[in-house]
Amino acid sequence: MYELIKPILWKIEPETAHNLAIKIIKTGLTNLYKEEINPLLSVKVGNLRFPSPIGLAAGFDKNAEVFSNMFKLGFGFVEVGTITPKPQFGNPKPRIFRLVEDKAIVNRLGFNNVGVQIAKDNIISKLDRFIPNKLGVNIGPNKDSSNRIDDFLNCYKSISKYSDYVTFNLSSPNTPNLRDFESKEIDSLLANIDSIRDRSKDIFIKLSPDLSEENLIKSVEKIIKYGMNGVILTNTTLSRPTSLKSGDCNEDGGLSGFPLKSLSLKQISIAYKITEGKIPIIGVGGVSSATDVIEKLSAGASAVQLYTGMIYEGLGLPKKINQELVKYLENNGIQNIQEIVGASQK
Ligand SMILES: Cc1cc2nc3c(=O)[nH]c(=O)nc-3n(C[C@H](O)[C@H](O)[C@H](O)COP(=O)(O)O)c2cc1C
Repeated sequence: MYELIKPILWKIEPETAHNLAIKIIKTGLTNLYKEEINPLLSVKVGNLRFPSPIGLAAGFDKNAEVFSNMFKLGFGFVEVGTITPKPQFGNPKPRIFRLVEDKAIVNRLGFNNVGVQIAKDNIISKLDRFIPNKLGVNIGPNKDSSNRIDDFLNCYKSISKYSDYVTFNLSSPNTPNLRDFESKEIDSLLANIDSIRDRSKDIFIKLSPDLSEENLIKSVEKIIKYGMNGVILTNTTLSRPTSLKSGDCNEDGGLSGFPLKSLSLKQISIAYKITEGKIPIIGVGGVSSATDVIEKLSAGASAVQLYTGMIYEGLGLPKKINQELVKYLENNGIQNIQEIVGASQK
């Protein structure tokens, strides 16, 4: 079906096309793709069990409007947000660019969202506690906030009860100085989180692909030290590989998709040497096939997320990857997908 509507969607300005896609998904039309996920794909991530290692990355369902229908497409978990305490318009439009020749996107949205109160109501109206798929909420501070740590904590307190896990987004490149929380200000943030958190809910920390090896190691050590439950690697990159061909590649913002794949893989490999399985890594960046998933899991990720791959391959992508992963496991006599986590690091 996506193949039929893709030529229409792709003629439309990217953000308008995205909003249209959300409207279509809301109608339930895409539930036609619904499939049961094979138990071979079930993975344990922190204290949670995901029915599939394929998750929807933050940024697609910013306002928690369609997560329940995204589960039906085969995602084992969906991360909504980034949600900030107050509603926010974000940066001036246009702010999403397709880099078609590179199978990539550049975005500088800047946390456009309806704010935590409305997002919370959206979640409550769609939450189904009787399904195995898990819901994550990704949170961040408002751009004009005078105290960003308070923003993180207030958002967390308002919403953690309604999610299975909360991700603290320290790595969006589109909120000025947010990335200071990844290194310079990480101790004060993590200590504050530790002092107020609900220990029955997992907390993941999302980091950037642009952290140096030294700073990534330091951050991951602190994430473990303060008892966080996992690390998400990675957000979009400010770097621009020389291989890029598309006209809009030098637009300001974060680059995602195929050109991010090797950068995120490198960060996963570095982090896995520190975590050694003590806390899970969720690998994100350029995933668009079962081979990409196997590569990320082998490097040490316990699960993956994707976004840009779905823009290029369509809404059937998670279902297709699930099916290909099952075939791979059966052909290789592997009992559960978890057996391949960290395989290439041993
Ligand atoms: C249009 C767009 C908006 C995004 N918004 C967010 C966001 O609000 N919060 C966040 O943590 N990541 C956001 N991301 C980053 C993704 O969650 C993901 O980390 C990144 O795109 C790499 O994965 P991909 O290559 O599969 O897209 C966004 C990505 C895109 C393309």
